[in-house]
Amino acid sequence: MKSVGNLENKHILITGGASGIGAATALLVASRGAKVVVSDQNRQQGEAIVEQICAKGGVATFIAADVSDSESVVALFAQAKTAYGPVNVTINNAGIDHKPTPMHLVDDAVFHRNVAVNLAGVWYCMKQAIIQMLDNGGGHVINIASVAGLHSAPTIAAYSATKHGVMGLTKSAAVEYARANIRVNAVCPSFIRTPMVENVLANVDERVRNAMIKANPMKRLGEVEEIAGALAWLCSDESSFMTGQSVVLDGGMLA
Ligand code: NAI
Repeated sequence: MKSVGNLENKHILITGGASGIGAATALLVASRGAKVVVSDQNRQQGEAIVEQICAKGGVATFIAADVSDSESVVALFAQAKTAYGPVNVTINNAGIDHKPTPMHLVDDAVFHRNVAVNLAGVWYCMKQAIIQMLDNGGGHVINIASVAGLHSAPTIAAYSATKHGVMGLTKSAAVEYARANIRVNAVCPSFIRTPMVENVLANVDERVRNAMIKANPMKRLGEVEEIAGALAWLCSDESSFMTGQSVVLDGGMLA
């Protein structure tokens, strides 16, 4: 009998795999037997994660891509297929945020860049993943949204709008492709200790920093391993009856 959470024979592609949640997830799923494509626009950091995986006996390769560029995403999925066959699970994780700012003061360019990476990027990746999964008889698309995709997020409205969009794509695609054996789910973290959040915390005053860290009933930031663990379960067949849903990992913030 296979051990719990075994991911052998799964080809898992992770965008934004060079840092934070994506990197922790790549390391964990590789340790459970998956063949992992680590993709990112940051080649140096992405290759370093692949080296760590391979040094521990895992199987992984790095493929550079910019998710905001549809041609780059087409090339990514083609190269991934050449490396390990059709993608079984894609984790659409690459994302950016913006400086907390009252909405009327946010530059339009900031809004458009958030849409390009966080929403169009997920759209491009979903399309390419679904094409391979339809050919292969099924698969699982996992989108990293946010608690900011489920409720209000004052001062990060542009970011929040993209994450609400990701939830829309997740739910609609789940229903559209359920009969094709393709599952589509989302993960919605609150503040997790990653370079993205460390950067925000470094640029706000102490009062705001404390408020952010203590924004949930557990009064702490989440750790990347706490998100990676849930993602590894989602990647496994143990989550087989779940589609069109979100896993909310927020220390009780939305309770
Ligand atoms: P991070 O900044 O540590 O990692 C993001 C990765 O995405 C980086 O390696 C970066 O190079 C890559 N990336 C950015 N733009 C890209 C592009 N155009 N093409 C390819 N790669 C690109 O961030 P973190 O915190 O690990 O975030 C991962 C995901 O989780 C994001 O979608 C973020 O919105 C989401 N999230 C994070 C939360 C947190 O508190 N850290 C909370 C809720 C959601």
